[in-house]
Amino acid sequence: MRRILITLLALCALGTAATALAGSPPDALRLEPPKGMEAAKSPVDFPHGRHTGAVADCTACHHTWDGKAEIKACGSAGCHDQPGKKGETAYYTAFHAKDTNRSCLGCHKTAKKDGKPAPVSCKQCHK
Ligand code: HEC
Ligand code: HEC
Ligand code: HEC
Repeated sequence: MRRILITLLALCALGTAATALAGSPPDALRLEPPKGMEAAKSPVDFPHGRHTGAVADCTACHHTWDGKAEIKACGSAGCHDQPGKKGETAYYTAFHAKDTNRSCLGCHKTAKKDGKPAPVSCKQCHK
């Protein structure tokens, strides 16, 4: 019991440190393509807060973040800012790449295999 308590306290401290660094991580976000890119699908509601609890390490997703600077949007210039579905720089790739746990769909496929309720069909995310 005591050990569990200490672990919990340590986790809380970690969470607070990360929060302080980045300002406040948002609880809920609505994601849509950057300006100038046409949307074929509806925007996606992303329960960010729920993910920062389950996946504590911010850089698991914010993979270019140095832990200090402002966090950049996925579709920022020079990142995943291209239309189409192919290649690392495609906006689509940031959210659907199957070969990495960094993307929504990639991680959800792994999570689903582990029996967790992570959505993997188009309509579950693009309502
Ligand atoms: C786990 C959630 C998730 C699933 C499942 C998912 N997407 Fe997405 N998708 C996103 C997110 C997040 C974005 C980025 C926000 C946006 O632009 O809508 C996105 C963006 C897109 C885009 C580029 C933006 C646009 O509107 O044109 C396309 C195209 C797309 N998704 C198609 C699909 C298709 C087709 C499927 C099913 C094979 C699918 N998505 C499944 C989360 C998901
Ligand atoms: C499961 C993936 C994931 C994890 C883990 C994650 N984030 Fe995010 N976060 C995102 C996505 C996706 C966005 C939206 C990026 C965009 O707008 O293109 C975002 C956006 C943000 C933003 C900017 C919000 C805005 O106004 O655009 C901040 C700040 C942020 N996250 C902080 C954090 C911090 C701090 C952590 C660690 C405690 C964290 N995130 C962990 C996926 C994640
Ligand atoms: C590193 C792993 C990981 C990444 C990346 C990730 N998720 Fe998830 N997501 C999960 C897991 C695991 C769950 C299952 C529920 C839980 O444990 O909270 C989940 C659940 C969800 C749910 C269902 C929440 C509910 O209330 O039922 C939505 C919606 C969702 N994710 C959207 C997204 C979107 C959109 C992205 C990309 C911007 C994303 N996720 C990226 C791991 C991830």
